[in-house]
Amino acid sequence: MAIKKLSLDLRNKIAAGEVVERPASVVKELIENSLDANASEISIVVEKGGHQLVQVSDNGNGIEADDMRLAVQRFTTSKIATFEDLFNINSLGFRGEALASIASVSEIELASCVNGNGGYSIKVHDGEAGELTPSEPVKGTRINVHNLFYNTPARKKFLKSQRVEFRQIVQMVRRYGLAYPEVAFKLIHDEKEIINIQGETLKDRIDNLLDPTYGSHLLEVNIVKGDFAASGFVGNLNLLRSRPGEQYIFLNRRFIKHRLLNNAVYGAYQSLLKRGEYPFYVLNLVQPADQVDVNVHPMKIEVRFKDEWRLFHVLKSAVSEALQSILDTIPDFRTDTGMFPGFTSDPQQGSFSIPGADTHIQQGLARAKTYVDSLSEKKTSDEDLISGNIWQIHDKYIVSQINSGLVIIDQHVAHERVLFEEALEAFDVAPLGAQTLLFPETLEFSADEFSVLLDILPSLNRLGFRMKEFGKNTVLVEAIPSEMGWGNEKAVIREIIDSFLENKKKYSSWQEGLAASYACHAAIKAGDPLTIPEMQALVNRLFATKHPYYCPHGRPIIVQLSLDELDKRFERS
Ligand SMILES: Nc1ncnc2c1ncn2[C@@H]1O[C@H](COP(=O)(O)OP(=O)(O)OP(=O)(O)O)[C@@H](O)[C@H]1O
Ligand SMILES: [Mg+2]
Repeated sequence: MAIKKLSLDLRNKIAAGEVVERPASVVKELIENSLDANASEISIVVEKGGHQLVQVSDNGNGIEADDMRLAVQRFTTSKIATFEDLFNINSLGFRGEALASIASVSEIELASCVNGNGGYSIKVHDGEAGELTPSEPVKGTRINVHNLFYNTPARKKFLKSQRVEFRQIVQMVRRYGLAYPEVAFKLIHDEKEIINIQGETLKDRIDNLLDPTYGSHLLEVNIVKGDFAASGFVGNLNLLRSRPGEQYIFLNRRFIKHRLLNNAVYGAYQSLLKRGEYPFYVLNLVQPADQVDVNVHPMKIEVRFKDEWRLFHVLKSAVSEALQSILDTIPDFRTDTGMFPGFTSDPQQGSFSIPGADTHIQQGLARAKTYVDSLSEKKTSDEDLISGNIWQIHDKYIVSQINSGLVIIDQHVAHERVLFEEALEAFDVAPLGAQTLLFPETLEFSADEFSVLLDILPSLNRLGFRMKEFGKNTVLVEAIPSEMGWGNEKAVIREIIDSFLENKKKYSSWQEGLAASYACHAAIKAGDPLTIPEMQALVNRLFATKHPYYCPHGRPIIVQLSLDELDKRFERS
């Protein structure tokens, strides 16, 4: 077979395959160009998941009229000039192929203005740039990409539904939004405004771009070691998710995927993470450009470092430091043999088998016995965490000796954490037990409260509240959760509705908000006296939860005082 040189158009289309995989890749390349042009406002308009239109406008430096036709050709760039520049890249783009690639598989229109002068535009069709024509004034540059893959039907076939493609676009915009919090971003899809954020701090950006509840669960990371710096935030245990997707590492403001560096962050969480749990983080790494090779793949998401193990150690220790406050609250329950001590079964000290000790707290004991180890040590289901004596002080805190010193547990927040997780499970899996009231009670609400109550009634039912409508704005309460004490059910139901309305904005789902309201109001309070078996049952149930160290609002549940610390205070060491 004769060997032939491929036409320019075909070469471009082949190259485009590496850069333009889907509409989100178009968004990526165009945002990068805007950022390289020092834009402080970037607006992205998408139609039909990007299948029909991706438009990116910016207020950046613009493209000179003479350069417009060059910009859409392959291997034309204003960002590097010599071979040496390739090893000192300070811009997001440098290959000079993105616009040419996009233009070879779509119909594009480029309009630009420099210094507010009259603008020009060109259209590129089938890879051929048309005439330069005067355009209406734009603030910087605007690029329209129509009909992606119209001339490469095989590729078009691989596009997913509009919804899926749009989700990828949102994820892409989030990456740049987090890497450039000082830049304003707007995203509109099918005429609906999805994102509209002004320049702000990284912390505000996380709240505004991801979730308004995140801000209160962030721990700051900040380290400078020689020519390497890392800054940003890691999430506390409230932000753990069971799916990956919210782990952001930026190198010199470029989103990267790097297994070793991700492992450094995961490693810092130590036993706080269980298998299948993913922490939240946004970390900005800074390294001199000559220490990094970003020219590994056309998408530039992979990078190579000259000294990756050094970065691994620095990053891991920086994140560990940020997490120290959480790691400190994790008591060391291990004995010298690495095994957990067993609970005493001495009836004098209160064992779980004391007859008649059938308190509400104890009912969870069976569940606690099938303990899921959050400390990833050799804990078996029959061992208990706290050995020896256990005391209640001021009817508020539970104190006990552990191997490394002593722990103090806040009884209210401990119970709150237990109830919170049980409530979430009740919504998803099996409803909680209920106790029937001897005398059903009626409860009257205002019209708006009542409509909220009707909405959440099925969920309250799963928690053990059995209620039915009983006349205007009134319900008849027939049963309450078996976990709750009797007597104040009316007040508790009211409080749950009130704080549910208030909580709505603070939690990522309304179920979480409802679970938190229920847990807060149904939990034992400071001031409630507890028996020894009740305290032990509570502690065991606490350690059967996923996150025994923080309450749903982020307050600590356990404070530990180590022997070392005591020795120091008594000037023993
Ligand atoms: N929004 C923009 N504002 C100003 N100039 C732009 C803009 N978009 C593109 N350009 C100019 O067009 C050139 C070509 O852009 P293109 O994205 O194809 O290549 P690149 O950014 O240089 O490299 P890469 O292929 O790695 O992205 C850029 O070098 C830049 O000079
Ligand atoms: Mg580019």
